Amino acid sequence: MTTSEMLKKYGAEVSSSLETYIADGSEYSHSVFDAMRYSLMNGGKRIRPALVLEFARINGLSDMSAAMPFACAIEMIHTYSLIHDDLPCMDNDDLRRGKPSCHVAFGEDIALLAGDALLSLAFETASKADFKNISPENVVKCINELAFASGAEGMVGGQVIDLLTEGKEISEDTLKEMHFGKTGRMIICAAKMGCICANADAKALEAATEYAHNIGRVFQIVDDILDITGDEKILGKPIGSDAANSKTTYATLLGVDGAFALASELTEKAKESLQCVYGDSADALCGLADMLLNRKN
Ligand code: IPE
Ligand code: IPE
Ligand code: MG
Ligand code: MG
Ligand code: MG
Repeated sequence: MTTSEMLKKYGAEVSSSLETYIADGSEYSHSVFDAMRYSLMNGGKRIRPALVLEFARINGLSDMSAAMPFACAIEMIHTYSLIHDDLPCMDNDDLRRGKPSCHVAFGEDIALLAGDALLSLAFETASKADFKNISPENVVKCINELAFASGAEGMVGGQVIDLLTEGKEISEDTLKEMHFGKTGRMIICAAKMGCICANADAKALEAATEYAHNIGRVFQIVDDILDITGDEKILGKPIGSDAANSKTTYATLLGVDGAFALASELTEKAKESLQCVYGDSADALCGLADMLLNRKN
């Protein structure tokens, strides 16, 4: 399977599975379900679910349905983080995944609640994994990873640094900590959950974590570069948001070329850490690392 085939296959499977988790709702609750569905089914790249599924596969999981609840759960949390990230009190961005941001389409109040509900739904989804194909112990381990990665020491913590340092000069170390929190933790979580679903051994888990740590850094560095050099139509979100909010990014700290050089170095490290443990079976994931470096959206 090539990297593009992998993303296409998992993307389609995850999207159809996600559909099944969003109810229609009643007279009033349908508003929040509509907003959840609008953001969730709106063409994200589905990178985090693909990592869950591919790490499960290369670690020998035979019944991929065991990993699907966790692939869906992490996409729900990711989508909630984007809905909140776009709110006027955060980045104040009106475009997401090529369409009006959730709060533009549904109002700030419903967008806030749709994000909250997606976070809860993620844990409901993960906890409903079928014990016929995954052990209760592994389900709890995955839920623990999700909770940690999305919380105050993970995504939320990174977002706090991002917001509190707007307009301030910050060191490269602080920027690295911010990226690790807001983006890295969730990407590491995805890789680790895939390994857990397949009962991977410590060495396989460590290599996956190292890879995810590096591609997580690349992911946010490239996101910061695209905020300057990207094309809004291809990116599906506004260009210049970071400058408008006076954010320090790798692009402001090292320049676009310097930031890209760092991202290229980290991509090589990511691939090396997988190749020595997984060999050829990691080809699609190595291709994914290259793709994330060179992406335009
Ligand atoms: C955007 O994530 C937010 C960051 C962590 C940089 P993605 O680029 O994965 O967004 P979607 O899911 O494809 O829309
Ligand atoms: C946010 O980073 C990462 C999240 C946790 C949502 P950004 O604010 O740079 O993400 P985009 O550029 O709006 O997608
Ligand atoms: Mg932000
Ligand atoms: Mg943003
Ligand atoms: Mg950004």
